[in-house]
Amino acid sequence: LKLSPQAKPHAFFKPIMPTMEDELVLPDGFSYDVLAAYGDVINEKGDTFGFNCDFTVFFPIDGSNERGLLWVNLEYINDDYMKEQYMPSFMQNTPIDTKRRYHQGGAVIEVFKDSKGTWKMDTSSKYARRINGFTEFDIVGPAKGSSLVGGATKAIGTWANCSGGMTLWNTLLSCEENFETQARRSNLPSEHYGWVIEVDPFDENDEKFKPRKHTALGRFNHENTCMGITKSGRFAVYMGDDKQNACVYKYISSGKFDPAKGKANSKLLEDGTLYVANLGAGRWVKLDAAEVAKRVHASNFSVPSVLKMRDQTVQSLREMFPANATQAHVMVNTHEAAIILGGTPTDRPEDLEINPFDNSIFIAHTNNAVHGNIHGHITRIFEKEDDFESMEFMFEIFAAGGRQSGFSAPDNLTFDSNANLWVVTDMSESNIGKGVYEWHGNNGLFVLPTHGQNEGEAFQFASGPQGCELTGPWFTADEKALFLAVQHPTTNWPRRKGDVDPLPAVVAIKGFKGNNLDKGNKSNG
Ligand code: FEO
Ligand code: CA
Ligand code: CA
Ligand code: CA
Repeated sequence: LKLSPQAKPHAFFKPIMPTMEDELVLPDGFSYDVLAAYGDVINEKGDTFGFNCDFTVFFPIDGSNERGLLWVNLEYINDDYMKEQYMPSFMQNTPIDTKRRYHQGGAVIEVFKDSKGTWKMDTSSKYARRINGFTEFDIVGPAKGSSLVGGATKAIGTWANCSGGMTLWNTLLSCEENFETQARRSNLPSEHYGWVIEVDPFDENDEKFKPRKHTALGRFNHENTCMGITKSGRFAVYMGDDKQNACVYKYISSGKFDPAKGKANSKLLEDGTLYVANLGAGRWVKLDAAEVAKRVHASNFSVPSVLKMRDQTVQSLREMFPANATQAHVMVNTHEAAIILGGTPTDRPEDLEINPFDNSIFIAHTNNAVHGNIHGHITRIFEKEDDFESMEFMFEIFAAGGRQSGFSAPDNLTFDSNANLWVVTDMSESNIGKGVYEWHGNNGLFVLPTHGQNEGEAFQFASGPQGCELTGPWFTADEKALFLAVQHPTTNWPRRKGDVDPLPAVVAIKGFKGNNLDKGNKSNG
């Protein structure tokens, strides 16, 4: 990939100003089409699109940039929206918990650009379907069948699917984030949630490629995954634990990625090593069960302050990690193991993405009001020798939120082929437009060059409707369309004919000239 040192993102769009307008505001020359909103029918069976759309991935059909499957995470459901009008006919008059389980998880929809250039959903799709609180998953990896998951080899349902990632073998990873309340509310075993799930959008019956939960990636408040091939041919998966004072992780597969094996590479997510970042030392620390047990059972063990804040005691941690603790203990209680081994507590790590230009890794640390980081920051990690398998790294604060940069509460990230980092923001609804957040207007989408003369500067590309956060930005391969989810708008967006409530919806943004975004030509070389 060649990058012009003069790259200026605002050469391809005129940045917008922060605004409180109740609309998805875009720069001159750009427009959007609503693809699917809460309650829309998605297939011939009559399934409907769920609530609070989040992460999106476009899976081209036959390599097309204009027809494909769009995976959409559906993070959680607000009980005020449990109206029969949003339910499929086969879900009418069901108990509220049944409706809740139906309307979150994820959706596969088929989308295409019609002859007039409008992006639409194709409800005749044979692939379109829902993955939700009723889908059966295989539990795979070190915790499968262990007493830590009640001996289970299967789990029913997925919850709190926030962000995720695409694998190198064209399947979908989706992350179970704030699962605790939802699992408890539906009386489900908590240990079956908090994992990274994998689904093949092209397996329309979910039979050839059984949906699975990958316990080797650990159990915590998973935000997203990003995957890169190491110099030895293995792969690394970077992940954040989105809670206050929580850690950044990386998984390295034991085996090597073999493109010829296609989806069978999924097995590589069952056997590998999980590490946690110690930012002070610039080292990745292996999450080793024997080492955790040794520390917890030492006579001088004292509870780290971060775990004290979560009401852990010497006794509770010794029960969590018995003297003969196995990897299953570590995979089920990953945050506790990580802190005990010296993982650095950070300010709510949300998305991580790999820069396609130089393999540096970007982390959205959204905020941590407890110690005054009210606007958050974006951290950049440089692995030693640019190898994802390195055990040592350097890091910098790439950009800080606030009035100077223009953004606050960075959340989901994506890269374009010119190494511009696209960042959506998630100021909480109760903060938007108030106090120190007033200057920022509604939540938005920002473009930050990672090289060249504007490195680290933020240019605002979009502003969302009132109350919403923008989530899940994802480009088509030709970069002529950008998918984006508008989550929890509160007033009356998207105002289509017949809409009576504000509705979470996923859109396609048009007006891009294609790769490279600022030069109008291809730069892959
Ligand atoms: Fe669901 Fe961390 O955002
Ligand atoms: Ca959210
Ligand atoms: Ca998020
Ligand atoms: Ca967030």
